[in-house]
Amino acid sequence: MALAERPVAKLGHAVIFLGPPGSGKGTQAKVLAAKYGVPHLSTGDMLREHVAKGSLLGVKAKPIMERGDLVPDSLVLKMVAERIERPDCSLGFVFDGFPRTVAQAQYLGELLKYHGFAHPFVIHMIISHMLLIRRITGRRTCSIGGEIYNIFDRPPKVEGICDNDGGELIQRPDDREEVIRARLMAYEKQTAPLVNYYRRLGFLHEIDASKSVPEVEQEIAQAVAGLRGAR
Ligand code: AP5
Repeated sequence: MALAERPVAKLGHAVIFLGPPGSGKGTQAKVLAAKYGVPHLSTGDMLREHVAKGSLLGVKAKPIMERGDLVPDSLVLKMVAERIERPDCSLGFVFDGFPRTVAQAQYLGELLKYHGFAHPFVIHMIISHMLLIRRITGRRTCSIGGEIYNIFDRPPKVEGICDNDGGELIQRPDDREEVIRARLMAYEKQTAPLVNYYRRLGFLHEIDASKSVPEVEQEIAQAVAGLRGAR
């Protein structure tokens, strides 16, 4: 591994990105995971992979995701439990889009204890509704490596083409306006209660996600660098 790619330090924790669709969870979770050399676990990406390969889970999840609803806990929890069993998660991991319900958060608490981790470190991405719509409608994702762009704020050098690997940039099917409304409603109803759930436990760290990507990245880096006594 080249020196520049060496992880800065041990993470030793589960870090959770909590925030509405389009708040920048994926953008920042990838950077943080790469910085510490731990896996970036996006339940949205995992589910989209299942849909793409047509697995039983994918067949069940596809129509639910297309409507903008949450996939049932029973399906998501099994997928997450299997993923964090893998050895690459032993030094910590970064969740993006999980947990999304109180039941998922309670189950995650048990899983973390079982695997010998302390409590999670929760990053709450705070952002206005108006900015969310701009970010979601402008998002384009690389069909090969998954790099995230935005036609308004983070355009690629060549329109429609990924800077990293030349992959075609595509718009997610659930980024259509009518689905965005359903996703935002699902967030308010089922996921927003997690803010108080984690705040009461004292695990919540609030970030102003309306700032630029490098500014948000720096705020998160400082917050996470303050973590001590991992396992
Ligand atoms: P998922 O893939 O998790 O989608 P989401 O939560 O709706 O979040 P997004 O991916 O839309 O946004 P993001 O916050 O990651 O923002 P991003 O970094 O891309 O879930 C999809 C579906 O899967 C769900 O609807 C559900 O059906 C199912 N699902 C997933 N997990 C589940 C679970 N646990 N339980 C049940 N169901 C589940 O950024 C957005 C845009 O903004 C990009 O264009 C980016 O370039 C730009 N941007 C980011 N940061 C900045 C910035 N600081 N300044 C300017 N632009 C920025």
